Amino acid sequence: MVKLSPSVLTSDFLTLKQILPQFEASGVEMLHLDVMDGIFVPNISFGVPVIKSIKAHTNIPLDVHLMIDRPHRYIKQFAEVSDWLGFHYEAGSNVAETLKEIRALGCKSCLTIKPKTEPEEIFEFLPLCDMVLVMSVEPGFGGQKFMPSALPKIKAIKAEAERLGLNLEIEIDGGINAETAPLAVEAGATVLVAGNYIFSADDIPKTVEEIHRL
Ligand code: DX5
Ligand code: ZN
Repeated sequence: MVKLSPSVLTSDFLTLKQILPQFEASGVEMLHLDVMDGIFVPNISFGVPVIKSIKAHTNIPLDVHLMIDRPHRYIKQFAEVSDWLGFHYEAGSNVAETLKEIRALGCKSCLTIKPKTEPEEIFEFLPLCDMVLVMSVEPGFGGQKFMPSALPKIKAIKAEAERLGLNLEIEIDGGINAETAPLAVEAGATVLVAGNYIFSADDIPKTVEEIHRL
């Protein structure tokens, strides 16, 4: 069954507490938290204190997506509030060392690539990853249009992970909705991030169920 990681980026943070029980009852596997620094991406979102508050109100594993410059500087702080912790290949940190540090701190490691990055560039790091996140929009904002160029990248990463005998989650993030989710699953995505699609749904449990049925 494909896993779902709702992205809270465009939600109302003060009413999020009332929505979390719906996610828990629907069996949502992760909660996606987008950290933006205004440098690596042209937008600023939130950091450790907000994630800490969310963590205090839910048992759903937290899937933290760092969109920050030189993320190795902040791994320790974020590892304390994350279950899955991911950063960008393009963000200027030593990739292998940062992935190892995330695992050593007890989190699942995730390496993320932007739409212009070719999957082959990260093949050497796959044994250090518990998950790879393929962006299907330019990182920085919710509500953008899905880029189908993400699909062959997922296929390539899946094939390489199988060749290496790795148990790797492949996550896709950006523009996931009723039309694009089946394409992502067909390509081999095992975790779908969905922001606007989930938070604008009239019936959240029904929408989650539809995704789980894919
Ligand atoms: C974009 C973020 C996404 C965003 C997805 O930089 O990484 O997680 O919240 O939002 P939707 O699903 O609305 O494209
Ligand atoms: Zn994200």
